[in-house]
Amino acid sequence: MKGLILSGGKGTRLRPITYTSAKQLVPVANKPVLFYGIEAIRDAGITDIGIVVGDTKEEVMAAVGNGSGFGIKVTYIEQPEPLGLAHAVLVAEDFLKDDPFVMYLGDNLILGGIKELAQEFMRDRPNAQILLAKVTNPKQFGVAELKDGKVVRLVEKPSEPKSDLALVGVYMFDKNIIRAAKSIKPSTRGELEITDAIQFLIDQGYTVHPHMVNGWWKDTGKLEDMLEANRMVLDSLATCIHGHVDSSSTVEFKVVVESGAEVINSVVRGPAIIGRNARVINSFIGPFTSIDKNVQVISSEIEHSIVLEGSIIKEVDRRIEDSLVGRNVEVGKSPLKPTAYRFMLGDNSKVGLL
Ligand code: DAU
Repeated sequence: MKGLILSGGKGTRLRPITYTSAKQLVPVANKPVLFYGIEAIRDAGITDIGIVVGDTKEEVMAAVGNGSGFGIKVTYIEQPEPLGLAHAVLVAEDFLKDDPFVMYLGDNLILGGIKELAQEFMRDRPNAQILLAKVTNPKQFGVAELKDGKVVRLVEKPSEPKSDLALVGVYMFDKNIIRAAKSIKPSTRGELEITDAIQFLIDQGYTVHPHMVNGWWKDTGKLEDMLEANRMVLDSLATCIHGHVDSSSTVEFKVVVESGAEVINSVVRGPAIIGRNARVINSFIGPFTSIDKNVQVISSEIEHSIVLEGSIIKEVDRRIEDSLVGRNVEVGKSPLKPTAYRFMLGDNSKVGLL
């Protein structure tokens, strides 16, 4: 069985972070979302993995390399334009050949892995196996309608959903999906939808098995989802202190302090992670916070947030929360007169002032 991870597309819902970076590389608990997918596939015993890349291919390739760091072999597959999930399958045809494969959307996070799902698929050998989860906002997903436990209809982002069962971004297919993807037409949003390709299989009498996901799953496309994913993953970590925590600091509950990091005269209340060579000085890091490598937090308080590498948060009077701070950002008091806010904010930035 092969793996196919989709890491192309555009990250419009996470702008401005994704103006300069692939959405699949935004870290959750200091690890890119994409890496969780790679590890889940590898842990299911699949080591031949194709990664579909688009505009951000250089960055994805730099992060994943040839896969040896993960114990897998990676083949990069270029998709000239993000023309849909079924289009991504078509551009991967030479890589997939006639083999069965698991398709994993690079911005999805599923706790608990996919090993048993892959085993179930290889044992029962349906033509496709889809994962479904109950959601409160089905309009934002592909939605499945079941009858007597069988999938009868799949609709991509319906305006009037017939159920609350969303398609999770992990699919298992045999070679017939390629013919299905070749047989469908682009949707009104101009994409070759994988939901339509699977519907084609259903209509042609192929077997499509549904599988309910009981564990936690998230499509990390938006800020709130990113923060929730961060919360879930941090909560599953165990305390591990490799860096330096001085004697006037307190580290409470589940806290990871990576090597080279320093915590000086501060309180870190987990679940939280302090990345490599980060510095936390005279500060409070509250629950569900990920401080990435080379970040400095000085005389400030932050919780329920993600701060990406190289950023500096210095002498901020009020507590920062529910925030995603990009790379190399500076947030701090300005000593200049007249007293005023001074911003340099990228397009689509959001700032909440008191
Ligand atoms: O997260 C689950 C949902 O994922 C499903 O419920 C939907 O049925 C499915 O269409 C998909 O919806 P999204 O709108 O979230 O898909 P998105 O455009 O975010 O793309 C998902 C991943 O695939 C993302 O990592 C980008 C990548 N991608 C996307 C497109 C359209 C590609 O690599 N190539 C593409 O052409």
